[in-house]
Amino acid sequence: MKVAIASDHGGVNIREEIKSLMDEMNIQYEDFGCECGTSVDYPDYALPVAEKVANGEFDKGILICGTGIGMSIAANKVKGIRCALVHDLFSAKATRQHNDSNVLAMGERVIGPGLAREIAAVWLSEEYEGGRHENRVGKIKEYENK
Ligand code: RB5
Repeated sequence: MKVAIASDHGGVNIREEIKSLMDEMNIQYEDFGCECGTSVDYPDYALPVAEKVANGEFDKGILICGTGIGMSIAANKVKGIRCALVHDLFSAKATRQHNDSNVLAMGERVIGPGLAREIAAVWLSEEYEGGRHENRVGKIKEYENK
């Protein structure tokens, strides 16, 4: 599995935490910034990561900003992206199993690095269940292809 990860200035600490988690999990990743000592704009980081996942260059993406909201809104504008904004373990598991989410967004002003690490570990490990969910995810894909 190859993961593209990025954050704005509001998500740098969690980005580093998740990178160390992926090192431990032997997951290949590439860090797309930010190199930020100053304030940056989250769409400049969310959109390239989302595009790299949508075009198959990467299998999954992880995006962190202050709330996770801006990153998730921007990523979900890219066709083929199902970005889940997650701040609890139940949703981390459910969104992989049910939504086949391919991008995870989190907010560093909402949760701490410990919980973010656990959420990412679950999200990176869980498989999509397919079955009854395939029809539902299929309807989203159908809408995107209209
Ligand atoms: C940046 O101040 C902040 O707006 C951003 O990190 C994020 O929370 C946006 O949704």
